[in-house]
Amino acid sequence: MARKIFIAGNWKMNTNLEEARALSQSIVDVLGNTTDVDIAVCPPYTNLSAVNDIIKGSAIKLGAQDVYWEESGAFTGKVSCDMLKSAGVTYVIIGHSEQRTYFGETDETVNKKVKAALSSGLLPIICVGETLEERKSGKMDSVIDRQVKGAFEGLSSDDALKCTIAYEPIWAIGTGETATPQQANDVHKFIRNIISQIFSEEIAQAIRIQYGGSMKPDNAKALLEQSDVDGGLIGGAALKASSFAGIVNPA
Ligand code: PGA
Repeated sequence: MARKIFIAGNWKMNTNLEEARALSQSIVDVLGNTTDVDIAVCPPYTNLSAVNDIIKGSAIKLGAQDVYWEESGAFTGKVSCDMLKSAGVTYVIIGHSEQRTYFGETDETVNKKVKAALSSGLLPIICVGETLEERKSGKMDSVIDRQVKGAFEGLSSDDALKCTIAYEPIWAIGTGETATPQQANDVHKFIRNIISQIFSEEIAQAIRIQYGGSMKPDNAKALLEQSDVDGGLIGGAALKASSFAGIVNPA
C-alpha cells in the first residue's frame, strides 16, 4: 500500500509571535500549493492561532507539540484537545523525547494523551526512540517495543490508522548526528512489525512512520528513499523555510 509522505516541522520552544508569523508566511510562499506530500507545522501554543490565520487555505496543516488529556478544569499550565481544535489544530505531537526526559512523560501519559486526542478528532504523531546507551547495550528493541505497545494500548484498529509514529533516536536529535538510512529503515521495519502484532499486517502497512533526528536537506533524500521511512519530523531544519522546503522537495 502506498503511504503518502508526511513532513512535519516541530518548532519546539522557538519563535515569538512575530517570528512565527514570518516563518509560516515564508513556508506558505514556498510550499503552500504542495499536495503530493502532507505537510504540517507545529509552533508553540501561543502562536497556533496566528499561524493558523496564515496557513488557512494553503496545503499546510497545523500541529501542536503536546496536549493534556483532561477536558477542562484546575490544571494550571495545561492545554486541552478542545482548545487545540478551536485554534485550528489537526495534528498533535505526543511523547516527544524532550517531554519524556524533562517533563515526566511516561508510556501511560502518552497513552492517555493519544486516546484523548483521538476522541476529539486530533491526529497524534507519537514519538518513540532510544538513547545511545540503550542502543549500545542492546536494549533498543525492548525500549521501542515498550514505547509502541504503551502508546497504542487499548486503541481500535480504526484509531491506530489515524496515528503517525515518529522514530526519533534520542542520540540524533539536535546533535547533527543522523541515523544512517539503513539504521532508520531497520527500526522502522521493527516498529511496523510491532504494529502488525498488535493490530494486523494491513494496519502495519498502512500506518506512517516518520524519521526524526537531524534530518536536513542534504540527508533527507537518502532517508526518504528507504522502503519504510514515510516522512520526517523536523526540528532545527524546520525553522527556516528554505531548509524545510529542502526536505519537502525530495519527498
Ligand atoms: P532535530 O529535532 O531535527 O533538530 O534533530 C527533531 C525533533 O526532535 O523532532
